[in-house]
Amino acid sequence: MSVTTRREDNVGYVTIDSPPVNAIGRSVRTGLRDAVTWAEQSNLERVIISGAGGMFAAGADTKEFDSDPVEPHLPDVLNAIDQSFIPWIAAIEGVALGGGAEIALACDMRIMAPSASIGFPEVTLGVIPGAGGTQRLPRLVGLANALDMITLGKPVKAQLALDIGLVHAVDEDPVYAAFMVNSEALGSFVSVRDLPVPMLDAAILNAARERINSKSSGQIAPHKALDIIEAGIGLPFLEGLDIERKTFLTLRGSEQAKALRHVFFAERGAKAPADLTAKPVELAHVAVVGGGLMGSGIAYALLNSGFRVTILETDDDGVERACTNVDTIIAASLKRGLIDEAGSNERRKRFAATTNYNNVSDATLAIEAAYESMDVKRTVFAALEQALPAHAILASNTSYLDLNEIARSVSDPSRVIGLHFFAPAHIMKLLEIVVGAHTSDTALATGFVLGKRLRKIPVAVGVCDGFVGNRILARYREAADTIFMDGSTPWDIDEAMVEFGYAMGPYAAQDLSGLDIAHANRRRQDATRDPARRYIPIADRMVELGKLGRKTGAGWYRYPGGGGRVDDPIVADLALEEAHFAGIKRVDYSADEIRERVLLAMINEAADILQEGIARNASDIDLVLVFGYGFPRWRGGLMHYADTLGAKTIVARLEELCKEDPIAWKISPLLQQCAANGTLISDAAPA
Ligand code: 3HC
Repeated sequence: MSVTTRREDNVGYVTIDSPPVNAIGRSVRTGLRDAVTWAEQSNLERVIISGAGGMFAAGADTKEFDSDPVEPHLPDVLNAIDQSFIPWIAAIEGVALGGGAEIALACDMRIMAPSASIGFPEVTLGVIPGAGGTQRLPRLVGLANALDMITLGKPVKAQLALDIGLVHAVDEDPVYAAFMVNSEALGSFVSVRDLPVPMLDAAILNAARERINSKSSGQIAPHKALDIIEAGIGLPFLEGLDIERKTFLTLRGSEQAKALRHVFFAERGAKAPADLTAKPVELAHVAVVGGGLMGSGIAYALLNSGFRVTILETDDDGVERACTNVDTIIAASLKRGLIDEAGSNERRKRFAATTNYNNVSDATLAIEAAYESMDVKRTVFAALEQALPAHAILASNTSYLDLNEIARSVSDPSRVIGLHFFAPAHIMKLLEIVVGAHTSDTALATGFVLGKRLRKIPVAVGVCDGFVGNRILARYREAADTIFMDGSTPWDIDEAMVEFGYAMGPYAAQDLSGLDIAHANRRRQDATRDPARRYIPIADRMVELGKLGRKTGAGWYRYPGGGGRVDDPIVADLALEEAHFAGIKRVDYSADEIRERVLLAMINEAADILQEGIARNASDIDLVLVFGYGFPRWRGGLMHYADTLGAKTIVARLEELCKEDPIAWKISPLLQQCAANGTLISDAAPA
């Protein structure tokens, strides 16, 4: 039974019971509809509705969104609750999200537990509230609050919900509190639908529109939500409901909603494989080698998750720098209200930095985040092997280096794994878990447990240059540089990719991270690079000119006075010059052509990555791109996006591009297979 009913004297208790999150699928809707009839026939004095398992309801069952809607529909069920002559009280524990929050709005009264939250995250799934949220919420909390909650999709905690009038009371035991509400008070509550609509306020609407443009650029649902809220102000309640429902159903089947649902479920699927039965090592004390920005970010992420952390450095200056770096992050978190004074002190107590490897003799995990040099890594791993217990896992945060070679520096390479964090490591959600040739299941299981404890998205990847993310990034940059040299500018390319949905283009992003890192990688790859492959020298020229990015005041762009970026004609001239010497007749690429080339290059590389088994499946590649590299979430990730183009179209275009450069555009066999078989790229598996 997805909804249970129980009567005690004159009080009816309706409980949504659909584990794990009380999602509102067909059986819950049916159960609720029947509960309304039951309550009315039983002539109850009140109904208290709550959720089993400490969770009110997580909203509509999104697994049903790929099929046609089935009766009873939620708006009808909620209208029945709303119109019932028996007062309904929502007793909210855990979360009331989306349709869950809409159930609460249809009730006559709402009481929340202090730790509970309530919200309308529909736009994060590419839809709008579809069961009255856009019509009831503005009546209850006013236009500005409703626009905030619905167009941003961020839930609010109980106290704020109380402050804005969304709920009537906050109580540790909301069910009991609902039972205690006196009958007179209960009779005085007005149904939300009967509250007056707020006044139309152009300033509030414009501010919300601007916020959507800047925060949710490219996304349709937040705009639609705003339009429907605005329209509802001038319409009778039922007409408002009607346009809301129609818009919800249209959006439900849209490409953006499908893409966002794909990412939602892919994110939840990012866990240890079911057949990984090895027991992870117990983790309490973790050693981090290197206290630079990456090492200190990793250290802070570990501290946040309750670990004891020791940073190992080479000298006293390094120790001091590590302490300063960690302290700076703690202070910033305190300032931003993410932790309180006690939390910051407690984190400091669990942290140490030292040059003495003997101090980590009880650590069961070490994460090396030292300088990207094989010699340095080998020395560090040899020292870690000596210092840590024999069962401890030894991890490297290397971004590019060969993990198998690193593993050869210890006598038992099965202890070695890659844990590739993304800067800033305490904020970025992606964790690439690099599985080497000898990595044990115990090490892998430990990697996944750590990822979960750090509340990151762990994705297992194989060993190759750049693993999944940086390998695709390298191809992204190579394609962009080729376009630049052959006929464009960094700013045009950046703009084209921002229009696609990236927060910033490849050149602005590289100016942030620094051009020297990629330069060092190119030098490392010199020995193994295919001499027949076209090499674009402009980035090397930039480094020669000292244009290393923001940190030197100039990179692909100039940053006069350390301020905002401006286009740099000297940079544009570099491409003219190089193209001239290479005898290239430059062409003028449109934004569409730029996007197409860059994205096809990435898709082609990703398909090779999948075929080689470097990624376990296509949706892992999507997670890497969305959570580590700024690929627009609402496009569902690279491989999901590729399927919207279709393998046949992709291969046909690649065949054209191959005529220009058969090496750079060599078509991935996996794409050819998908095109020939008419299968989805997302369904393709490693060879
Ligand atoms: N529908 C279907 N399944 C859902 C679901 C939903 N709305 N929400 C969560 N699940 C599933 C997850 O896929 C996961 O399944 P798995 O165990 O098979 O991987 C399981 O429930 C547990 O979810 P989490 O791992 O996310 O559990 P957490 O405890 O970390 O988080 C949560 C719980 C905060 C409820 C989180 O799952 C969440 O945010 N869910 C989505 C909420 C949402 O967006 N609701 C709006 C839906 S649209 C809507 O309501 C339209 C309406 O207006 C008509």
